[in-house]
Amino acid sequence: MTVPAQKTAFDVARVRQDFPALSQKVHGRDLVFLDHAASSQTPTFVVDALDQAYRHDRSNIHRGVHTLSQRATTAYEAARGKLRSFIGAARESEIVFVRGTTEAINLVAQTHGRQVVQAGDNIVVSVVEHHSNIVPWQMLALEQGAELRVLDVDEAGDLRLDLLPSLLDARTKIVALGHVSNALGSVHPVKDIIRTVRQACPAAVLLDGAQAVPHLRVDVQDLDVDFYAFSGHKMCGPTGIGVLYGKRSRLEAMPPWQGGGDMIEKVSFAGTTYAAPPSRFEAGTPHIAGGIGLGAAVDYLQQLDFDKAMAHEHEVVAYAVKRLAEVRGLRLIGTPKARAGAVSFVIDQDGMNLHPMDIGTLLDKQGIAVRTGHHCAEPIMERYGISGTTRASFSFTNTLAEVDALKAALDLCVEMLA
Ligand code: ALA
Repeated sequence: MTVPAQKTAFDVARVRQDFPALSQKVHGRDLVFLDHAASSQTPTFVVDALDQAYRHDRSNIHRGVHTLSQRATTAYEAARGKLRSFIGAARESEIVFVRGTTEAINLVAQTHGRQVVQAGDNIVVSVVEHHSNIVPWQMLALEQGAELRVLDVDEAGDLRLDLLPSLLDARTKIVALGHVSNALGSVHPVKDIIRTVRQACPAAVLLDGAQAVPHLRVDVQDLDVDFYAFSGHKMCGPTGIGVLYGKRSRLEAMPPWQGGGDMIEKVSFAGTTYAAPPSRFEAGTPHIAGGIGLGAAVDYLQQLDFDKAMAHEHEVVAYAVKRLAEVRGLRLIGTPKARAGAVSFVIDQDGMNLHPMDIGTLLDKQGIAVRTGHHCAEPIMERYGISGTTRASFSFTNTLAEVDALKAALDLCVEMLA
C-alpha cells in the first residue's frame, strides 16, 4: 500500500480530507470534533490497512506455514518494527502488543510489580493520574501491603517537583506517572523527573504516554524510562490495540502474565518454560489487524511531517486558551507551563454555575463534540474542589475557525443557561 504523498507545508484542509468522519453534519451543523483525547479519528489510510488485513491477508500469525499466515505474520511483525522506531526503542523485542494503555499498566503491576513490591515498600503516583495509572497500583499495594504515595500538583496543574525527593526512598519500587495529563493537558517534565528518581532510588519508572504520543515526539532511550504505555486509538490507530514498551533487562526479568499459546518455549506436565519477550507477554491470538492498523497509523503520522503537524496543533490549542478566556464566567482548570492537546474548563464565575453535562449537551446540539465529567481522573477533580469539567481536546486536524465556533457556541450556552 502506498503512503499518501508528503506535503512541504502543513495543509490542514488537505489533511482533513484523509479523515472522512470529519466532513459530516451533526444536528444539521458542520461537525467540530474536539474529543481527540478520548479517541482520535481514523484516516482512510489506516482503514484501508485494516481492510487489506481482513479481506486479503486474514489468517492467524506465528502458526502457519501457508501463504496467508506468512503474510499476516510479516505484516504484524513489520508493525512492531514501525512502533519500535516511532518511540525510539532499541529493539523490536521491547515492544509488547497489548489492548491499550490500561492493559499495559496492569501487565506491569501484576508481573514486575508483584515481583519487586514487598510489604513496607512504596509506589509513587501523582494526583493528576488517569484512573488506569492509579487503580492497578492501589490493587498491587493492597495485595502486597505496600504504601501508595501521591505527588501533588500546584494550582496551575504542574507537578510539585519540589516535593518529589521527599516521596522517594530506598523502599520506593515503582514510580508511575503520566507524560501528559488527559484531564488538564499539562505536559510533565518527565526527563527531569526520571533523573531525580534515578539519583534517589532504584525504582522502575513507568510513564503513561496515552496522551503524549499523539502530540509529542517520544524517545524512550533518551528518556531512560523503564516502561512506556500507550494506546493505538489516540494516535489515529484502531481501538483495542496498544503498546507496552519495556527495557530489555526489565522484560527479561519479568514472569509471564497470562498463560496460553504463543507465550511458551515448551509445555509439558512436568513443567513449562516460557518464550522470551515480547512473546512471553502475548498469550493467545492477538488483535492482528489492529497491530497492522497501528503500524499503518505510524506510517501515516510519519509521512505527515509530525513536527509541522504539531506546530499547527500547538497554534490551535494556544488560540483556544486565549479565546476561551473571553467567555463570560469561564475558568480554566489547569494553566500549566506546557500544554498539549487538551483544555479543561468550568463556567462557575460571574454569578453562574453551569453543569459540564449541560454545556456538553448544548455544544453537541451545535455540532461540537467535547467530553464532560471527571475524565477518569477523579482525584484531580477533588484536588480542585470540582466534580468535573468540560474538556476540548485537539489534534492536528483542528482549525482556528473551529476554535471560533467553540467560543461562539459557549457564548450561546451562557446566554441560555445563565
Ligand atoms: N482516557 C480517555 C479520555 O481522557 C478516555 O477521555
